[in-house]
Amino acid sequence: MAIRHFLTLFDLSSDDLQKLVYRGIELKAKQRAGEIYQPLKNKVLGMVFEKSSTRTRVSFEAGMAQFGGHAIFLSPRDTQLGRGEPIEDTARVLSRMVDIIMIRTYEHEKLERFASYSLVPVINALTDLHHPCQLLADIQTFVEHRGDIQGKTVAWLGDGNNMCHSYIHAAQQLQFKLRIASPRGYEPLQEVLSQAQPDIVTLCNNPMEAARDADLIVTDVWSSMGQEQQQKQREAAFKNYQVNRKIMAAAKADALFMHCLPAHRGEEVAADVIDGEQSVVWDEAENRLHSQKALLEFLLYSR
Ligand code: CP
Ligand code: NVA
Repeated sequence: MAIRHFLTLFDLSSDDLQKLVYRGIELKAKQRAGEIYQPLKNKVLGMVFEKSSTRTRVSFEAGMAQFGGHAIFLSPRDTQLGRGEPIEDTARVLSRMVDIIMIRTYEHEKLERFASYSLVPVINALTDLHHPCQLLADIQTFVEHRGDIQGKTVAWLGDGNNMCHSYIHAAQQLQFKLRIASPRGYEPLQEVLSQAQPDIVTLCNNPMEAARDADLIVTDVWSSMGQEQQQKQREAAFKNYQVNRKIMAAAKADALFMHCLPAHRGEEVAADVIDGEQSVVWDEAENRLHSQKALLEFLLYSR
């Protein structure tokens, strides 16, 4: 049986993706009820982080503990990866010792290379190109608050980055409309855009136009990890793309606001939006835990 990796949302069928979202909701209810459920007893997750993380690290580590398993945090600072051991060798060694691996790194191609040498499932915990785990949590959050996302309209404001790319995949897989408003020069990559139907994902440069009558407004930082040097230039390029009260007023009256976090109040989002009534960012963050537990269970037991 082929190993099931989760490198992008296209590694799941849209049916499996739907089921995973509902499984995340079930697992959340179990956890809230205090039910002990340990399907991953004695299983070990290896966690390779080449970039910083709060949510991803804690959600995977807590999820493994709740499932009766264990997680090992590995950073380049204290592994041989940081001293130049090839990714292929690291993949071959780690995957002989642990049951499943997650990686957060820069180049998506590095993740793909790692997965191709791994004997166990590999999860993309963020690359420069995609952040599919975050989308599992975002979709779960939308479903919990508003029901099925199919046919709804989502507006993405800001950088055409890894999060935006994973939104493009999610829109295609779950058939919701995605309107992207990015400044010129910061649009999502054409190669990712072309993976979705043109009537599902539309690109414009006008944030008000993208937000009009949307069911969900989403944004992300203007400078992602690895782009810290571009901060000043990006602040200038994105200054008209902040999600503020005017943007939220253009959306539907019951529109939700999401942000994968960490957020910069006063940059990509106004404080009164992220801390306001339409914001569901704390549920969204919590759902990283539940949706990734559903993912771990799926990748280890769906064969
Ligand atoms: N949203 C997200 O992935 O957060 P971290 O960088 O804290 O893991
Ligand atoms: N686009 C952001 C997401 C952080 C979770 C980054 O890559 O830094």
